[in-house]
Amino acid sequence: MATPFDHHPVAVFDSGLGGLTVLRALRQRLPGEDFFYFADTRFMPYGDRAESFIRERGELIAAGLARRGAKALVIACNTLTAAAAEGIRASSALPVVALEPGVKPAASLTRSGVIGVLATTRTLASERFRRLVEDYASRCRVLVQPCPGLAEAIEQEGADSPAVARLLDNFVTPLAAGGADVVVLGCTHYPWASAAISRRLPAATVLLDTGEAVARQLEKRLASASLLGGGQGRLTISSSGSPAAVAATVERLWGSALPVEPWEPA
Ligand code: DGL
Repeated sequence: MATPFDHHPVAVFDSGLGGLTVLRALRQRLPGEDFFYFADTRFMPYGDRAESFIRERGELIAAGLARRGAKALVIACNTLTAAAAEGIRASSALPVVALEPGVKPAASLTRSGVIGVLATTRTLASERFRRLVEDYASRCRVLVQPCPGLAEAIEQEGADSPAVARLLDNFVTPLAAGGADVVVLGCTHYPWASAAISRRLPAATVLLDTGEAVARQLEKRLASASLLGGGQGRLTISSSGSPAAVAATVERLWGSALPVEPWEPA
């Protein structure tokens, strides 16, 4: 049954443009939805910031997106989920879909019993991540690898740049040496560099990201709230950073030019 809100957009947000890897999966599964994407470029990277900052910023963004008319929220950032998902859920009346590193599927896929996790320093230091490993991967050896600088380098220099190559040499090689046969991409920026990451791992290594799982979850949540459909596949990209600079990065990552609007949660 149609509700007054089913034609409103789903809001998707991240510190920057990593969440576009999630948005791609959302649009593939839900082509009849409109999406409003917000990149908090002004404050990126979140991964090296204090948890309290990320929590407050996340709640401010979620409230601003609700006021802007979003019918549901997708937190397309592992770091933001770790710090702020509980607060956002508690303070928002909208359906909220969050994501976390795919440790659970990795634990059921691994044959070697060794899982690698690439994520931000903040995600890996979080209580939420500690619980995730304890609940689902206590029988595995979990090699955690913080990747400071990687999300920014992917945005600023490009996934195939020498800067990203240098960082990946440092971050990925120890996972291969440690015997990981499943590697979790625990930051939404990293799927942009999945080819470069794969090249540094044995051929049979499985890389896991959570875009499709998030899309299935969003579909379920919209359906149960009678909010599914009603859009026309429209996409608006917005950022708290310089629209021109962000548009240039969007074009490089997304593969086509998209306009970027300035937006600031208030
Ligand atoms: N894309 C974000 C994530 O999934 C992190 C990038 C950042 O450090 O801002 O964790």
